Amino acid sequence: MSLLEQIDKDRLPLHVAVIMDGNGRWAKEKGKLRVFGHQNGVVAVRDTVEGAVELGIKYLTLYAFSTENWNRPKLEVMALMELLVSTISKETKTLMDNGVKLNAIGNLNSLPEKCHKQLKEAMEKTSANTNCTLTLALSYSSRWEITEASRKIAEKVRDGELRSEDITEEVVSAHLSTAGMPDPELMIRTSGEHRISNYLLWQIAYAELYFTPKLWPDFRRQDLFEAVIDYQKRERRFGMTSEQLN
Ligand code: FPP
Repeated sequence: MSLLEQIDKDRLPLHVAVIMDGNGRWAKEKGKLRVFGHQNGVVAVRDTVEGAVELGIKYLTLYAFSTENWNRPKLEVMALMELLVSTISKETKTLMDNGVKLNAIGNLNSLPEKCHKQLKEAMEKTSANTNCTLTLALSYSSRWEITEASRKIAEKVRDGELRSEDITEEVVSAHLSTAGMPDPELMIRTSGEHRISNYLLWQIAYAELYFTPKLWPDFRRQDLFEAVIDYQKRERRFGMTSEQLN
């Protein structure tokens, strides 16, 4: 039976989040510069997005650049930004062909102007697509996002638009950059690291975590399918007992 046939289409995770890790090590293994790993990471991004559409995953969120990544050598940061701009412009057609809507979360104002502009253009162009929402986390970190949300909520309380006793989990969620999106049910990290690295901390409260030793440039849709098969074998209890679920 093929991997796809092993997947129960009625129990798909609605939202899959991915920490794409291992580009640098992949390049080093081949005696190449780190940027070569990032370039090949784009091949993995394309195949994973197409695989998500093929499967029927409605939301796919990729960690493309963290707040902490600004601390990398300047040349690598510049190369990554260039790669983002060129990939977004080159791949807009792939997104249209697959009915994918592009979205972005993070401190987008901190991105180079060219990158921000390209992103906005692609987001506008793909805004009517409905097969899948692809969210790129760019200059993103959870602590940044939660701090921003706290500030916005505090300002509303200060201005009398919100009472502090009315702050609920839903209110907090609605002030995060993922507002309106369902929480991820499945979080995948490649490269054998077992960390969350400041990614969607609030949103993954009940997510299943899946770790694979594969380095990101080697990741393909079959690996996504394997992660979903593994996810479907797990019992999600949300703090309840097995008996309560049956
Ligand atoms: C982590 O590998 C990867 C990144 C920080 C960048 C991810 C970017 C891409 C896959 C390319 C562009 C993406 C899009 C969406 C167009 P690492 O450099 O931390 O690897 P290492 O842990 O082996 O050093």
